[in-house]
Amino acid sequence: MEFILSDTYEQMSGAAAEILAKELKRKPNAVFALPTGSTPIGTYQALAKQNREGQIDFSQGNFFNVDEYVGLSRESEQGYYHFLYTNLYQHVNVDLAKTHAPDGTAADPELAAIDYERQIDSLGGLDVAFLGIGRNGHIGFNEPADSLHYATYCVTLTESTIEANARFFASVDEMPKQALTIGIGTIMKADKIVMVAHGEDKAEAIRRLKEDTSLNTGFPSSLLRLHPDVTVVTTIK
Ligand code: F6R
Repeated sequence: MEFILSDTYEQMSGAAAEILAKELKRKPNAVFALPTGSTPIGTYQALAKQNREGQIDFSQGNFFNVDEYVGLSRESEQGYYHFLYTNLYQHVNVDLAKTHAPDGTAADPELAAIDYERQIDSLGGLDVAFLGIGRNGHIGFNEPADSLHYATYCVTLTESTIEANARFFASVDEMPKQALTIGIGTIMKADKIVMVAHGEDKAEAIRRLKEDTSLNTGFPSSLLRLHPDVTVVTTIK
C-alpha cells in the first residue's frame, strides 16, 4: 500500500485526479467505481477541469457508483447517482448510458445487488476502484462486521455511518438505513485501487490503516492490504 501525503485538500484532489486521469488515458474504455461524499468532490472538480481543457476524454469510459441508498431513485437529490451527476457527469463529456448505480428503488434490493454485480462483471470487472474511507474504516458501505460480503449486497448501515451522513438529510429519520454497495470482492478484483482521505475525523482510520497490520473484518479497509496496487492519497500525516 502506497501513501501519498499532500499538504492541502487541493493538492490531494489534484494528485488523485492525476492517477485517475492517467488510467483513463491509458485505457479510454476503462471501468471505474466512483464514490460519493465530501472527500472526492475536489478530485471530480480537477477531472472536470482536465476534461474542459481537452486533456482527458470521458466518452468511452464506464462509471459505476460504489453505492446507493435503498429507497432513493436516480433523480433523488440525496441519492448517490444524483451526486455523481451533479459533481462530475454534468461537467464532462461522459456518455450517460455508460454511467451506472445500483437500483435503490428496486422492489427486491437483493436482486438489484446481483444484477449490479453482473453489470460490472459483464464489462470485465473494475479497472479502477476509487474509494473514500469511513471514520469506522468502511469502504463503500462495507461496514465493520464479523463477516464481510464478497459481491454487491444490501447492507444495514451502522450508527456511526448514519450519524456521519445524516447531515445530508433534513433529519436523521429521513436518512435511509440501508444501502446497496459493491462488495469487498468487487473492490479486490479491481486492477487498481485509489483512496482519498482528508480531515481530522479520518485521522484514526488512516493511522490504523498505516500502522496496524492485522486483517480485520471489524475494520474493512484493512483487507486492502491484500491488494498489490493500492494508493492512498491523504492530507493526514
Ligand atoms: C460513499 C462511500 C463511502 C465514503 C465514506 C467517506 O459513496 O463509498 O465509503 O467514501 O463514507 O465519506 P466522506 O468523503 O463524506 O467523508
